[in-house]
Amino acid sequence: MTASLTITRPDDWHLHLRDGAVLRAVLPATARHFARAIIMPNLVPPVVTGADAAAYRDRIRAALPHGQDFTPLMTLYLTEDTDPDDVADAHAAGLIAAVKLYPAGATTNSASGVRDFDRVRPVLERLADLGLPLCVHGEVSDAEVDIFDREAVFIDRVLDPIRRATPGLRVVLEHVTTREGLEYVRSADTGLGATITAHHLVINRNHLLSGGIRPHYYCLPVAKRETHRRALVAAATSGDARFFLGTDSAPHVNAAKETACGCAGCFTAPNAMAVLAHVFEAEEALERLEGFTSINGAGFYGMAQNTGSLTLVRGDEAASCPPSIPTEDGPVTVFDPGFPLHWSVSE
Ligand code: DOR
Ligand code: ZN
Repeated sequence: MTASLTITRPDDWHLHLRDGAVLRAVLPATARHFARAIIMPNLVPPVVTGADAAAYRDRIRAALPHGQDFTPLMTLYLTEDTDPDDVADAHAAGLIAAVKLYPAGATTNSASGVRDFDRVRPVLERLADLGLPLCVHGEVSDAEVDIFDREAVFIDRVLDPIRRATPGLRVVLEHVTTREGLEYVRSADTGLGATITAHHLVINRNHLLSGGIRPHYYCLPVAKRETHRRALVAAATSGDARFFLGTDSAPHVNAAKETACGCAGCFTAPNAMAVLAHVFEAEEALERLEGFTSINGAGFYGMAQNTGSLTLVRGDEAASCPPSIPTEDGPVTVFDPGFPLHWSVSE
């Protein structure tokens, strides 16, 4: 039996595109399915100023294949030296859609992130005044905190104090992975949303560690216990508008993943929509897929919904997805959900 589902064209509210050869290789996969994406600024060196964001946006536009329609929504990487006036100017010029907070040391290329949260108070106050969202990598980086607890500890020690001290600050808790994170988002009256990735809806920590270490399932925040994965599926498929898709598709060439100290990141851009259709169908929630991928995030960011559409088709045969994509720097492995994908995007 073939089924099909047509939805408003989706957006990806958390995406890594990198730069140079990898950017050119991975961008088409996102632009095929998504109208817009929030572009993460953790390049080396990071995208810190409005001028950096304009230059990076232009490189993304230049890498877009002719005929593909895609809008990069740029972000600034918050450092302890970020100038609130530069943020305000970039916002006024329509250059940026959010500012990204990485606690220093929490993840890939986060060394320039924030160590002392008091030092970014003036920027946070300005964001609240402007109504410009703060996207948050919600993990502490303290060596003594267990890696599986870092999200919950971050909420208690950092995020909740910041939100209490900054009324009106709009915050996206990025790639939420725990029941504690979901509960925190639900407990807020307003101004707090969360992105959920496709991969955290289908893998738990056993996929990463049981029967051999699987570097292509290593991402940050690290996948948690099955109970947390179940809670994420429930939240994503619930229709609650505070939860929306941010794939955190994070390409690294295989040589950087399959090594003694591999990088964090799952490259999900090519099959995120197919994986999501599978998950929502299994929950008998296909009618809520559109809200999660195409409606809720635009609402949170105060942007219009896309006018185009995307059609997913379900075939009896499993659809084939290339296991990796080539780049001039080497192949990048595509996320393997571990089950056959019957859904595919009709192109
Ligand atoms: O898995 C991840 N990869 N998590 C992050 O927070 C960063 C990202 C990357 O840039 O590779
Ligand atoms: Zn990310």
